[in-house]
Amino acid sequence: MDRFLIRGGKKLKGIVHISGSKNAALPILVATLLTDEPCILHRIPNLRDVRTTLKILEYLGKKVVYKDNTVTITANGSLKNNLPYELVKQMRASFWVAGPLLTRFKEADIPLPGGCAIGVRPVDIHLKGFERLGATCEIKAGNVLIRAKKLNPANIVLRFPSVGATQNLLMCACLVEGETILDNVAKEPEVDDVIDFLNKMGADIQADGKGRLVIHGKKELHGAEHTVVADRIESGSFLLAAAATRGDVVVEDCVPEHNSILLNDLCEAGFTLTITNASVHVHPYAGEIKPVRIRTAPYPGFATDLQAPWMTLMTLCNGTAEVDEDIFENRFMHAPELVRMGADISTEKSVARVTGVKKLSAAHVQASDLRGGFALVMAGLCADGETEVERVYHIDRGYENLEQKLTALGADIRRYNPDKDAF
Ligand code: UD1
Repeated sequence: MDRFLIRGGKKLKGIVHISGSKNAALPILVATLLTDEPCILHRIPNLRDVRTTLKILEYLGKKVVYKDNTVTITANGSLKNNLPYELVKQMRASFWVAGPLLTRFKEADIPLPGGCAIGVRPVDIHLKGFERLGATCEIKAGNVLIRAKKLNPANIVLRFPSVGATQNLLMCACLVEGETILDNVAKEPEVDDVIDFLNKMGADIQADGKGRLVIHGKKELHGAEHTVVADRIESGSFLLAAAATRGDVVVEDCVPEHNSILLNDLCEAGFTLTITNASVHVHPYAGEIKPVRIRTAPYPGFATDLQAPWMTLMTLCNGTAEVDEDIFENRFMHAPELVRMGADISTEKSVARVTGVKKLSAAHVQASDLRGGFALVMAGLCADGETEVERVYHIDRGYENLEQKLTALGADIRRYNPDKDAF
């Protein structure tokens, strides 16, 4: 398994270009199941989760050609309506094929995603929504069997604005004739991007921007071409890495307003930013990093996916900062690893108290999830000495060309595989 070796202490400097959003690309790829016509998608990042999604589409019967961040998806005979556990267990978002398959074939057999490293992550909101649209959901031998004689439009209020459930139900409702209203939906920019793509496919979805979607279902959708929005989590990750190394970095090709809360918090911590409509410049800063409390929340709140990298920044603050994780239980697995690198962190339930230290020190650490893995890479970039980060496969799920992008900014980071590479 690949590891990163990072020699810390270098200030990041230069320009980094942001890739297409993983969390928009995945549901948009899945949405192509709603038509047999060709779809062309640009700015699809070359990531492990994207490659898993493409395998899923191929398994279900699509023909996929992926070159230079553009994917062309065409029909290749009839589609299957089930997925094997092998594919679902690699990525929880696989469950999102349920909505398109149900709406097209009135049945879908999908393995339950089960637990994952950052909490239980149930799919009850997805299933309740399918039931409101007229389906029955039965769990048998680890699979959810979703069936409907006919789907009807409905008014559905989500008990929590789940990103995945919003997208799954939205895709399903697009082909349910009549008016479906979804309330208390997720307002993440990735959801807007999915809506954009579905409307290009001929769907009729109106978002009021306050958590209500009105969908007028169509008999069928057609092929479409779309460019995926910039990855706000990758943008935020590079901004935080630049800040923590006291660097001088311009994050280009991003949408700064998608990171408004983070940008405010960075300014509050002492950093100076120059913001244009598609870039953010973190200026060099030698002063003290002020402690800033964050609390994760659905968009436009502080993104849970940036909680771990924010924690790494706060390990270097002057004082004590609280980090509240209110979206996922058990999303502090990076904290004990940061402590092994000299950080001062105590956690209790959903709150971490981070007391800043002067310096982090290099250590051999282990990534246990995607964003927590990035937080360790960030710590390695700041620490004295050589940090070794194991289980890089978690990080490969969500950061395109990470070591190349960091190297271009002057970092000393390289990938190696102890089973293959000789020293
Ligand atoms: C998506 C993102 C992930 C991000 C998360 C929250 C993708 C591929 N992943 O994940 O990066 O961290 O949004 O912004 O886009 N929940 C339930 N029942 C459900 C569904 C969710 O209880 O049926 C709970 C979850 O356990 C969690 C919370 O709702 O505590 C948020 O989950 P959700 O918004 O669904 O996250 P994902 O869509 O899985």
